Amino acid sequence: MQYGYFDDRRREYVITNPKTPVKWINYVGTLAFGGIVDHTGGVLICKRDPALNRITKYIPQLPSSEFKGETLYLRFKQEDGYKVFSPYFVPTLDSDDLYECHVGLGYTRIVSEFYGIRTDVTIFVPLGDSRVIRDIQITNVSGQPLEIDAIPVVEYTHFDALKQFTNADWVPQTMQSKAYHDENGLLILIQYAFMNRDTQVNYFTSNWPVSSFESERRRFLGDNEYGTWANPLSLQEEELSNYEALRGDNIAALLHHLGAIQPGETARLITQLGQDESVSPALPAIRRYRDPAQVDRAFDELAAFWHTYLSRLQVETPDADMNSLLNVHNPRQCHTTMNWSRYLSLYQLGFGARGIGFRDSAQDVMGVLVSASKEAKELLRKLLDVQKRDGSAMHQFNPLTMVANEGDSREMEDRPKYYGDDHLWIILAITAYLKETGDMAFLEEAIPYYEKSKDGHPLDSGTVLDHMQRAIEFTQKDAGTHGLPLLGFADWNDTVNLRAGAESLFVANLFGRALLEMIELAQHLGDAEAVARYTNYYETMKQRVNDHAWDGEWYVRYFDADGSPLGSHSNDKGQIYANGQSWPVISGFAPLDRATTALESVYRRLNTRNGIKLSTPGYDGFDPVKGGITTYPPGAKENGGIFLHANPWAIIAETIVGNGDRAFEYYDQINPVTKNDRIDEFECEPYVYPQNILGDEHPQFGLARNSWLSGTASWAYQAGTQYILGIRPTYEGLLIDPCIPRKWAGFGVTREFRKAVYHIEVRNPDRVCKGVKSISADGKKVEGNVVPIFGDGKAHRVEVILG
Ligand code: GLC
Repeated sequence: MQYGYFDDRRREYVITNPKTPVKWINYVGTLAFGGIVDHTGGVLICKRDPALNRITKYIPQLPSSEFKGETLYLRFKQEDGYKVFSPYFVPTLDSDDLYECHVGLGYTRIVSEFYGIRTDVTIFVPLGDSRVIRDIQITNVSGQPLEIDAIPVVEYTHFDALKQFTNADWVPQTMQSKAYHDENGLLILIQYAFMNRDTQVNYFTSNWPVSSFESERRRFLGDNEYGTWANPLSLQEEELSNYEALRGDNIAALLHHLGAIQPGETARLITQLGQDESVSPALPAIRRYRDPAQVDRAFDELAAFWHTYLSRLQVETPDADMNSLLNVHNPRQCHTTMNWSRYLSLYQLGFGARGIGFRDSAQDVMGVLVSASKEAKELLRKLLDVQKRDGSAMHQFNPLTMVANEGDSREMEDRPKYYGDDHLWIILAITAYLKETGDMAFLEEAIPYYEKSKDGHPLDSGTVLDHMQRAIEFTQKDAGTHGLPLLGFADWNDTVNLRAGAESLFVANLFGRALLEMIELAQHLGDAEAVARYTNYYETMKQRVNDHAWDGEWYVRYFDADGSPLGSHSNDKGQIYANGQSWPVISGFAPLDRATTALESVYRRLNTRNGIKLSTPGYDGFDPVKGGITTYPPGAKENGGIFLHANPWAIIAETIVGNGDRAFEYYDQINPVTKNDRIDEFECEPYVYPQNILGDEHPQFGLARNSWLSGTASWAYQAGTQYILGIRPTYEGLLIDPCIPRKWAGFGVTREFRKAVYHIEVRNPDRVCKGVKSISADGKKVEGNVVPIFGDGKAHRVEVILG
């Protein structure tokens, strides 16, 4: 069974059957304005914050057949009343003669045919703009003239997304709609919560005269709401009631008589859903976007943006699925995670409990550096803003208010209120940014720490370099009985919440990796004292990890507060953890023999055809001492599930030990593009990585959930481009160190780096996995495997021979 196909030429995935196992979504716009569009036209839109400024009501838990956020009805007269249907299939569910949903870069285009009417709708947010445009083209393919009415409908939510569901007293009393009659008979239906009347109004408008409108859901559905979205009774009337809702459930329905459309003729209706302070400042742009030429121009600009974005790094490998992923879908997903963190998806609902995650966004930054280093820098600044004076970090923050909190640790009173790992990620992110851009001045920029005085002034501030140093010192001091870093409430694995005093090997290794970065940076800055200090920290921690954490065939993952190990052969459950093995290799702590033994254990104990499980065997029963992990059945999420985020780390580790065949096997088995043929098992969108897949202890092994917003995006992109293809920025130039499948004859990469373009051709005549024999740049031999920074705005040809 398939629900669609990849159209690589147009950089689209095309869904051809609307009855996908779960809604398959796309993202339009950015966190500044935008949200998700599902493949049946539903939208969840917000401006700057999904929790505090949400615009449309989208309830994911309702069945897929239900109306969500926005739809479009078309109708024509029949003998007994009107035939009403939605060209998006939902919510009227008529059988189609054609249905295609083109999931594109920043747009979704739905093309369908019902009853001799072809509808072609492109949904997008113009670059940097605060409106969703629907460019609706309706063509009569019936062979005879048809009188068609078009009724686009939006359902609003209260701006406070959670209150919409928790306060049925206040919310309905505040919701208001008003008609604004614009020039030439055009209408703008505005909507706001009363307290925002003069500051923040939503609007819905079109480029076609509106003959009547409706703003109250009850009236639109009819019969005191015993009418349904599948069959709104008001659409059997000639006109809607022109009612300006003063309370209740607000919608915006605009009835347009498109008139008689001749066979082959097309009517073009353009709608805009946006938000501004009030109508007047919005008018010029509203009027501009009524012009189809302006809509075309905005769409072309969006296409140009994505063309440029993706062209910064393009690959050509012998593996078509890898090419499709690395050239289009993976960088696109990285752009999405950089914008939305884990905040607004079909799964993470953006009601405010999460906000932007410190560790999540730090990792997201690393996935967009080639194409969006400016945005990455902005995000780094925000993260540094919520770092605390002691060097640790607040776990997450609200993007609109910049108010941060301690995450789930608030839910368990007797546990530490910080996460052992959060602050260390920022070092990886900042150094990756510096290596990509060479923007060393960033290190000198002053940024306040999070703590504020009563009147809101920061209590302390430091340079970016100072923030990094404090992050290191926090972990250096925060050690337990084995001298290993304390876990805090949790480390990367949010769900293992041990008693205070527990130690984390993940944090130890992340600390090691961060120290390597600090040493390299200090060397680059010529700071010998810092090199010596950090080398000393590094060697000490390396010694402790190897003295205490080697379990015989792998490394343990935690020591509990009483000193007993988790992730050891001596445990009944949770005997081995994937991150426990990949990270000692990434930190460089594992000597080669232990590294290969530990990675073999991952292959033997944790690998499945759908990816590497996070740990095994799964805990089987709730245990309040271990915490969240035991709330899942064995095989689900962190409890023995295939938590995809951890897979690229095993790939990277395999490339470090030179095992290109295994690295690629791991890469390929989780490539979502390859799931298109096994979609009934996988269920989620095959064009993005999901966060989790059920593991083989679960009866539904292979089932994916929580697509789109996962650290998998950034790390799989890094694993693919920087470790398998092995092209990695350094302070001195572009490092070329591939680790590929032995059978590959070579590959090519075109990459921008520090204002020059590198056309890199790698040949593998001896069929090795790893090892650079020679490099030439523009015909001249390069010593070592770092190609210099050209910085001259020109293209350069780099030839690499492995052997
Ligand atoms: C989720 C969280 C991430 C965490 C991971 C593993 O993806 O967003 O921060 O590291 O789960 O628990």
